[in-house]
Amino acid sequence: MRHFLPNGEELIIREARLKDAAGMLANYQRMTAETDFLLLNHAEALDLDAESEEAFIKSHLDKSRQLLLVAEVNGRIIGAVNVDNTGHDKRTHVCEMGIGVAKEYQRMGIGRRLMTAMLRWIEEHDDLWLVYLQVAAANEKAIQLYRNFGFQECGRLPDAIELKPGHFSDIVTMYKKV
Ligand SMILES: CC(C)(COP(=O)(O)OP(=O)(O)OC[C@H]1O[C@@H](n2cnc3c(N)ncnc32)[C@H](O)[C@@H]1OP(=O)(O)O)[C@@H](O)C(=O)NCCC(=O)NCCS
Repeated sequence: MRHFLPNGEELIIREARLKDAAGMLANYQRMTAETDFLLLNHAEALDLDAESEEAFIKSHLDKSRQLLLVAEVNGRIIGAVNVDNTGHDKRTHVCEMGIGVAKEYQRMGIGRRLMTAMLRWIEEHDDLWLVYLQVAAANEKAIQLYRNFGFQECGRLPDAIELKPGHFSDIVTMYKKV
């Protein structure tokens, strides 16, 4: 899917390929330096390597209930959304999503477009209809994005993430039936 950004650059949203491993890893590592709201901190992200990223991509390509979309601008990966399913028979209908956009490309509608493409994909899979996510309560931008798409808060785990040393935030679970 091709789009134009407000700055005139072309945005491509497409499924990840194995050869995206290095670009995806570089983007993820950069994002962990820009935000505290991802699960891994920057030091942990720097420990990841291209092989583990390739295995992550492959697990999404190989499984019919998993999705990994990337956002690409000028040949560079600057965002991604993923949908994961546990693979258990009792939970075939449930998936967990995650999303991130590099700071220099935020507020250009890329998060919204990744969400739209991801939810469209879920809609096309009749057996997959419950999507949820976990987000730090302090991550107001992300929570607003999810609310815009009809996600509702259904619970929170107090102080479940240490965003900075000594600074804890609740983790909020949000869900949507698609
Ligand atoms: C959350 C995130 C994915 C949003 O991506 P984005 O490309 O900036 O989002 P968009 O430009 O499409 O904006 C979509 C909506 O998000 C909300 N939003 C995004 N940036 C915002 C900001 N700075 N202030 C307030 N709301 C904001 C708004 O509701 C916005 O809708 P609007 O433009 O109609 O007001 C992005 O900020 C991000 O990757 N953050 C760091 C990683 C992260 O927190 N991931 C989620 C972990 S659970």
